[in-house]
Amino acid sequence: MIVHTPVLPEELIRFLATESLSSQAGEYMVDCTLGEGGHSAVFLSRFPNLRVTGIDADKEIIKVARERLKEFDGRIEFYRGWAQDFLRGLGAGEAHGLPGIILLDLGVSLYHYRKGDRGFSFRGVETLDMRIDTESGRSAAEILSHYSEADLADMFFFNAEERYSRRIARAIVEARRQAAITDTCALERIVWDAVPAYCRHRRLHPATKVFQALRVEANGELEKLPGLLETAFSALRPGGRLGVITFNSLEDRIVKNFFRARAGGSAAGFRGSSETPIVKEALLLTAKPVTPSREELISNPPSRSAKLRALLKL
Ligand SMILES: C[S@@+](CC[C@H](N)C(=O)[O-])C[C@H]1O[C@@H](n2cnc3c(N)ncnc32)[C@H](O)[C@@H]1O
Repeated sequence: MIVHTPVLPEELIRFLATESLSSQAGEYMVDCTLGEGGHSAVFLSRFPNLRVTGIDADKEIIKVARERLKEFDGRIEFYRGWAQDFLRGLGAGEAHGLPGIILLDLGVSLYHYRKGDRGFSFRGVETLDMRIDTESGRSAAEILSHYSEADLADMFFFNAEERYSRRIARAIVEARRQAAITDTCALERIVWDAVPAYCRHRRLHPATKVFQALRVEANGELEKLPGLLETAFSALRPGGRLGVITFNSLEDRIVKNFFRARAGGSAAGFRGSSETPIVKEALLLTAKPVTPSREELISNPPSRSAKLRALLKL
């Protein structure tokens, strides 16, 4: 059963639709964050001449997408791995040509929280792994046992803006002297006990940001984002569109700065000359981030923090 509902589907179509999308010749789209295939399904069913490459670094979720998207056989192909690796390998000689649409819907899917069984959620007792690609990188449990107190505190603060980062880091270091912290329940308890009592019964569970920070760290999400945006922008054909959906302000800031730098114009060649042509590489399609409508917030509450920014490559 599919658990994740794609966010901002109509807005994505509105901002990413190229002229070729509805034409006879069709369009080529790279869905860099396929998940269970929600956005790809929306685009493929709406545009009969669209071809898609769907990418996901998670070998389990891509199996779900393959099954779900069977009806589009011949118009979709799959790549299991990191989007940046696929995009870096794209060249002008590709069978499909270069993509006219690239989509990034960042982070993890509801599937990971509900069915991932890798410690993304603290609702049950799960092993603290949190890697999207379980064959590379450090698991959340390894991070908790190897990082110094100062590095843990920085990670909680810089990855998720956790206000009590230092108290929580201290509590983790004390707890791991007794026993390694390997499951979600143990970590949730440590955070609960570490934060001031008044934080314990708020809307946001006190462990939410700690879990977010660990997931971001285990997958290098913030660290890899500038490179991913750069690679996606280079892979796009001129006239193509890049859409990025983020779910927290730290990611959105990186996307906003990247988009502004591309659209703001940069001096090419002959620095200092008064005849220097100002070359704009892109046009911003969204002056401000696009957020879900009231209807979407009601029908799909997990969409509440989604923000879409879109760019046209000149
Ligand atoms: C928010 S979910 C995508 C949901 C999907 N758009 C849908 O509508 O069903 C993000 C997905 O992208 C994957 N992912 C995140 N960053 C990735 C990257 N850099 N390369 C490949 N896959 C990535 C995650 O494993 C996750 O399945």
